[in-house]
Amino acid sequence: MFKTTAEVGGMGHSIKRKEDLRFIQGKGNYVDDVNLPGMVYGQLVRSPYAHARLKRINTEHAKALAGVLAVITGEDLAKAGLAWMPTLSGDKQMVLATGKVLFQSQEVAFVVAEDRYTAADAAELVEVEYEELPVLVDPKKSLDPNAPILRDDREQKDNHIFHWEVGDRKGTEKAIQEAPVKAKVDAFFQRCHPAPLETCGCVADMNQATGRLTVYMTSQAPHAHRTLFALVGGIPENNIRVVSPDIGGGFGNKVPIYPGYVCAVVASLTLGVPVKWIETRSENLMSTGFARDYHMTAEISAEKSGKMTALRVKTLADHGAFNAAAQPTKFPAGLFSICTGSYDLPKAFCEVDGVYTNKAPGGIAYRCSFRVTEAAYLIERVVDVLANELKMDPVELRRKNFIPSTAFPYKSPLGWTYDSGDYDAAMKKALDKVGYRELRKEQEEKRKKGELMGIGVSSFTEIVGAGPSHLFDIAGIKMFDSCELRIHPTGKAICRMGTKSQGQGHETTYAQIVAQELGIPAADVTVEEGDTDTAPYGLGTYASRSTPVSGAATAVAARKIRDKAKKIAAHLLEASEEDLEWEPGKFFVKGAPGKAKTIQEIAFAAYTNHPQGLEAGLEAVDYYDPPNLTFPFGTYICIVDIDKGTGEIKVRRFVAVDDCGNIINPMIVEGQIHGGLTEGLGIAFMQQIDYDENGNVQGGTFMDYLLPTAVETPNWETDKTTTPSPHHPLGAKGIGESPNVGSPAAFVNAVVDALSHLGVRHIDMPITPWKVWNILKEKGVTG
Ligand code: CDP
Repeated sequence: MFKTTAEVGGMGHSIKRKEDLRFIQGKGNYVDDVNLPGMVYGQLVRSPYAHARLKRINTEHAKALAGVLAVITGEDLAKAGLAWMPTLSGDKQMVLATGKVLFQSQEVAFVVAEDRYTAADAAELVEVEYEELPVLVDPKKSLDPNAPILRDDREQKDNHIFHWEVGDRKGTEKAIQEAPVKAKVDAFFQRCHPAPLETCGCVADMNQATGRLTVYMTSQAPHAHRTLFALVGGIPENNIRVVSPDIGGGFGNKVPIYPGYVCAVVASLTLGVPVKWIETRSENLMSTGFARDYHMTAEISAEKSGKMTALRVKTLADHGAFNAAAQPTKFPAGLFSICTGSYDLPKAFCEVDGVYTNKAPGGIAYRCSFRVTEAAYLIERVVDVLANELKMDPVELRRKNFIPSTAFPYKSPLGWTYDSGDYDAAMKKALDKVGYRELRKEQEEKRKKGELMGIGVSSFTEIVGAGPSHLFDIAGIKMFDSCELRIHPTGKAICRMGTKSQGQGHETTYAQIVAQELGIPAADVTVEEGDTDTAPYGLGTYASRSTPVSGAATAVAARKIRDKAKKIAAHLLEASEEDLEWEPGKFFVKGAPGKAKTIQEIAFAAYTNHPQGLEAGLEAVDYYDPPNLTFPFGTYICIVDIDKGTGEIKVRRFVAVDDCGNIINPMIVEGQIHGGLTEGLGIAFMQQIDYDENGNVQGGTFMDYLLPTAVETPNWETDKTTTPSPHHPLGAKGIGESPNVGSPAAFVNAVVDALSHLGVRHIDMPITPWKVWNILKEKGVTG
């Protein structure tokens, strides 16, 4: 690969993020910044009960309040055939409740008023009479034959959503039965929430004069949302424009369509004015796309030498009241079957059952390629339990079982073909950086003194970049992605994408790819995303798919342009194309470097002096359908010290060695890793959306659902290895989610390691000081 100058800023240059100029000045343009003439405001009325029959809704008092324009109920929507909407998982979900409510904070009515405060006041005046029904919060109890049926709208009269399995059931069973060493862990990956700083919202603007609907919305997938609005709402797709302005964090939370969006559209269609709907923090935490909630059991077997022989995984997936997980259609449990991780396991079997409970719907891919975080956590936990069983160092056990770097492309027993990897190289780098041997010695010394110190290792493998379209679609739309690149006469460029950044720095990194391929300085390349009227069709940004898919599309589009530029250069230099050579930014005649035309000169000629018979202009589009996914990986090592008296855990050090193949912008990648690790820290130690037995949400505010601040966050020590993807045009793999995927196991393994000599083998997240203190008390370690 050519190395460009710092001025051009191609791959590998840590140029500053272009978008930050507006962000750090507070001049971003978020949905709530969109203010249109005549705009009015919507507010949802939500259920206080988790399961109740709707007896009566009285909207009269709300309607009577000055400034209130409309109150929409489920019955009103039913008349228009819009009381229910399809979910991304092939289920259906109530837009506004009819008949009964199924979770606390479910949407019951939508009040529209001239200002936000009146709308909020009027929502309080909507009188809803409920008759409480028995509540199911435990997914195991949902499967009880006598459990109340939550979804009586379905033909299937139970609470079971799906059973999905993959692998060799019998072979795995036999291998585990016959193995001399076995280990098992029951691990609950708790329900958590991406909690983006910007909540969800939209401004729906139905222009009755033109018949065009414009929806400004917090959407990670604007094109897919436009198509779904057209299919469900019956509005011709050419009359719908979805605009995603700046987004203040998505993390998967902004992939689904939520009832609030639909209500705002219906209200704008009805009233003929723009309608804004913006969630509050609690509404976001309580009702929109939760993540995880997987009750997992893993059994692993090995020979006495430590060579692993088989893995069996059984999972109960709590999907809440509607199956609204953002999953590719063929994969009801997402890419959970990556659960064999970095290990060469001869046999494996994995099964997942999805069930309904009285909880908010979701199951979104929170900074995660569809359940990869759950999978990585489980395998990295059970490997530690096995190491304990074998009385072997967890690092040694891992290294003994890594898929060797010579085995790639590697076919996993659960069906994936890993593109490339060198797990031992990442492990070695992490061990050296952290000083593993010395730390183990220190731990031994500390144990003698009764002090608690733990070392947690996680050597995870990911699967990102959905997807090859023969495998992946969401709601029937194939998962490719796109780039449209235009070079202007003066050699500057605009690049429009099917993806949508939510803070990942796309405006900078796509420009760097163009700079790499064409030698046009990244500063001269404008990147635009999020407007369906101008951007080419794409499936959006989530699951770290932007670099593997749209990044590839950008490189291919640029290469198409380079091919055409070569023809123009040959014409300008009066040479044959075969005699031309490329170096970043110019074509020159072989052996005569002085005879050259820069890309800027070529671009000008494309509009002013193009060869006869060749189309004018210099632009290209690429819809990239990746041949395979990419498999980033890494080794994380976490060191914790635990206070015996209080159970307080201090993360002393955290070393993260990541491998995402070739890197576009090292500084952005480092930022992605810092952010993801901080989220992982929150998940491991602080966060859970929990429910009491009546289905009341226990984590509905930032007082209960804690975000790590600078005070709790340790200094992240990052490093990298580079194993390019063999099938990606730039050799790049995704990175955004790796730190969120790989870190929870490192944190938990460290705490369990600190307590392992007391017989502790597993602790469920979030590992709070209270939990640890109780364990210490039970073990007689604390006073
Ligand atoms: O889809 P999403 O943008 O969330 O994830 P990603 O493809 O992993 O990219 C996150 C950010 O890291 C983007 O700005 C990428 O361009 C950048 N990146 C990079 O510079 N080099 C890589 N090999 C992978 C990502």
